[in-house]
Amino acid sequence: MSIPEHLDILRWSRALKGLFTEKPPVGQSPDLLDRILDRRSCRRFTGEAVPSVHLERILDAGRFAPSTANMQTWTFIVMNSAQWKDVLGAALPFSAPLGIMVCADLHRAAGVFHDPGAPSTLYTMAVMNSSIAAMAMCLAAESMGYATIMLSDDGRTGLLDAPHIRRSLRLPQRVLPLMTLVVGKPAKGGIRPVVPPRQPSRAVVGMGAYPAADADGMQRWADKMRVGGRLTNLRGGLQGKIRYYSEKMKPLEQLLRSMLLEEFPS
Ligand SMILES: Cc1cc2nc3c(=O)[nH]c(=O)nc-3n(C[C@H](O)[C@H](O)[C@H](O)COP(=O)(O)O)c2cc1C
Repeated sequence: MSIPEHLDILRWSRALKGLFTEKPPVGQSPDLLDRILDRRSCRRFTGEAVPSVHLERILDAGRFAPSTANMQTWTFIVMNSAQWKDVLGAALPFSAPLGIMVCADLHRAAGVFHDPGAPSTLYTMAVMNSSIAAMAMCLAAESMGYATIMLSDDGRTGLLDAPHIRRSLRLPQRVLPLMTLVVGKPAKGGIRPVVPPRQPSRAVVGMGAYPAADADGMQRWADKMRVGGRLTNLRGGLQGKIRYYSEKMKPLEQLLRSMLLEEFPS
């Protein structure tokens, strides 16, 4: 007879232990790799300002990121916490001093190049390019001793609030806010001891072929996600979060469809 899911203490305690212990190994390798493997999202900052010399370095890391055909289909909008509140009507989360909103941008290029009439492809490329630039800026900030988090929801920071952000920042057509890279000095407890669980390598990586299904590995990951969701969000847990996202996605879905149909006249 199998044990009901909610009574399987062994399974839940294994998931709980994994949340605190499953970090990639760091410390033996060159600096950059350590930064990549050791990076964790920070959810409490000291509020100390980021000096402009450091900010410039971070933005340069974004500008010099690779992009499809070097089209650089991105725009970075930098705001401190006061500007954020003023423009977007919500506090920049986690007492952070600085947010860099990363937008997928097909507006600038449209003024320079002939429109090939492939809006979905262009948008997909712009999202790819901007996300790569965001990660380059994230690692640049981490390499200078800052902590970071990317946000696309909390504090009206990106895709999930795109209709509001487009209006508030008066973004031109063909510009889609994706996420905000929040940068600052970490406050005590800003980086949670729980390690957000990663799906097993066997499930994610295919050596020369699409990986074979790893149902057990995926089940163990889902267990950790549920336990971790409870630990970090005691009220709603993971299911609550999924419900909340689904609701917010409805108006966003409309915006994305209308952007593709209306902002690229055929
Ligand atoms: C594009 C993007 C948007 C995100 N949006 C949010 C957000 O709105 N709120 C939040 O608390 N975390 C957000 N995160 C952080 C993820 O929850 C976090 O990266 C993930 O749980 C893995 O944890 P780690 O970054 O500590 O390794 C976002 C991450 C990405 C890449």
